[in-house]
Amino acid sequence: MSFSNHTTESVRERADIEEVVGDYVQLKKKGQNLWACCPFHNEKSPSFSVSPSKQIYKCFGCGKAGDAIQFIMDIEGIGFAESIRHLAQKYGIEIEEEKSQTPEQIQALTEKERQYVVLNYAKEHFSLNLDTEEGRSIGLSYFRERGFNRQIIDKFDLGYSIESWDHLLKAAKTAGFTTTELLKAGLILERENQSGNYYDRFRGRVMFTVHNVGGKAIAFGARTLKKDKNQPKYINSPETEVYHKSDTLYGIFQAKQAIKSKDNCYLVEGYTDVLSLHMAGIENVVASSGTSLTESQIKLIKRFTDHVTVLYDGDAAGIKASLRGIDMLLEGGLHVKAVVFPEGEDPDSYAQKVGAEAFTTYLNSEAQDFIKFKIGLSLSEDKSDPIKKAETVRQIVQSISKISDPILQNFYVKEASLLMELEEDLILMELNKALLKSKERDTSSRQVPPTQFPEDLLAVEPMDTKQSGQRQLMSQEREVLRLLINYGVEKIGEELHVCEYLIEETSELQFETPVFKNLFESYREALRRGILPTPEYFLNTTNSELKKELIDMITQKYELSSLWESRHQIFTVKEADNLAKTIYDSVLRLKKRVLKKMLNELLDKIKAAQDGEIADLQQVYMEIKRYQVEIDRQLGTVISH
Ligand code: CTP
Ligand code: MN
Repeated sequence: MSFSNHTTESVRERADIEEVVGDYVQLKKKGQNLWACCPFHNEKSPSFSVSPSKQIYKCFGCGKAGDAIQFIMDIEGIGFAESIRHLAQKYGIEIEEEKSQTPEQIQALTEKERQYVVLNYAKEHFSLNLDTEEGRSIGLSYFRERGFNRQIIDKFDLGYSIESWDHLLKAAKTAGFTTTELLKAGLILERENQSGNYYDRFRGRVMFTVHNVGGKAIAFGARTLKKDKNQPKYINSPETEVYHKSDTLYGIFQAKQAIKSKDNCYLVEGYTDVLSLHMAGIENVVASSGTSLTESQIKLIKRFTDHVTVLYDGDAAGIKASLRGIDMLLEGGLHVKAVVFPEGEDPDSYAQKVGAEAFTTYLNSEAQDFIKFKIGLSLSEDKSDPIKKAETVRQIVQSISKISDPILQNFYVKEASLLMELEEDLILMELNKALLKSKERDTSSRQVPPTQFPEDLLAVEPMDTKQSGQRQLMSQEREVLRLLINYGVEKIGEELHVCEYLIEETSELQFETPVFKNLFESYREALRRGILPTPEYFLNTTNSELKKELIDMITQKYELSSLWESRHQIFTVKEADNLAKTIYDSVLRLKKRVLKKMLNELLDKIKAAQDGEIADLQQVYMEIKRYQVEIDRQLGTVISH
């Protein structure tokens, strides 16, 4: 190990789980613990918990768990020693022996860890270059000209690459790095037709360091200072083991605390926009680096906030091109606003032009709800043309259909109807069309059975919803019990029996139908007494209703199997051979029915509620709805009933 036990102990003492995890996700307090959506797996409702008293984290969804040191190892994909180093840096703990990290010690690191070390070396190399004569007169003076002071240069690890073929290459080799490492980190290139002959990728350019969420250097963007049109404006690091452009947002490390505390994230295009906003005192800003947003970038934002404000240059073409990004943000469940700058200005130029105070005022006063923004854009083109207007309606509705939260969606329908002076019903009709279309696309591509149309989007509940909901709940309870009785003793994992899984998973639900509740309890009782009950075990009962249900359940298995096996050979394969999935899905379906019932009850309450109570109830409604949407997603249907 490259440092003393003392360092490790200090880290253990100082590192606070809440602070460490809080650097990567937004934690919300609920009871004793803090909760968030898990950063290790995909989910929409939080099952990732942090216990400040025990100083550990645990995800109930994917099972990842550990202390602060383990968390850094998991999230950064690094080993123990590097995790200690990372935390020591965060807490300003002096790392004993750090300076004497020998080539042997570097060799002992995993490949990924070595990438971080070499990139960190390059980062320091580029920033030290700013103090050379060439760096000062070219690099530093350029930054000064753009209004970037020393503080911002340090905060963002800005630097300069010397105009030479091998300035970095030579220095790095002297420091003990190999050409292979430099090559893998994207810092050097091999000359064409001259194998074994390498040169620096970045030369004579100002350097922007790209950091990951944890603050490690993972890539560079290098801007030319020459007018030469044949030179690309930026040369960027290629994809490497530690740099995936589509997962990265420039500035996220420097922005994350502010994003959390402001509960909003400004989204800009370029490196310089991020820097200028910081100069103006606005720190909750990240850049997509000139490309359109990706799903994983949106998820990264969502770790810290649900609110995004997109800042657009004042040129129409640019805005049009990036409108799709808004739909993606909506689909990602974010609340979106937009700000447009005056013609010819981008966030960077405008901030520099008007100064911090006026800029902040501008952002606050100009931020528009996405729907106002989009409607304004389309209507400004031609207000009177009815065909244009119909097209606008279609586009707006398209965006609204991406919103998964029904209450928010309803809000936007009202807003759109007001702004476009159209009947709400007309917009709802368009919305239904859009939803059906997207569902058709989903069903045809995913091969799931067709689903019904979601009635709560229409804000009218058919008369018999409650009854049919109750029936569906009952039949799903029956299905779960059927699986329990027929397959309870089978195993779906090395250690796990079907019955254990089912009982664990349904423990928070109450079976509503008395006969099933009864059966479930007897099953549990048998287990408690150490019996793994077979179907026959229950048939001794004198309760005739129960007996009838049991016989149905047991025979259904055989009937279905033989019938389907001889005809299609499909069902048996699905149910028995893919038992784990059958069981898992049936629990999800049961939960879905229960949630559906809760939602209906809540809706009744909301209708009958006093004004003051409505907001809270809606909050609960939305949370349940989100959970339900997540279940639907796992079941592979969009919104079904
Ligand atoms: N970009 C890139 N390669 C290019 C041009 C642009 O990677 N050839 C990316 C960079 O991340 C850049 C962003 O797209 O920051 C926005 O482009 P642009 O506005 O042209 O660059 P700025 O960084 O804003 O530079 P400047 O303000 O100096 O024009
Ligand atoms: Mn720019």
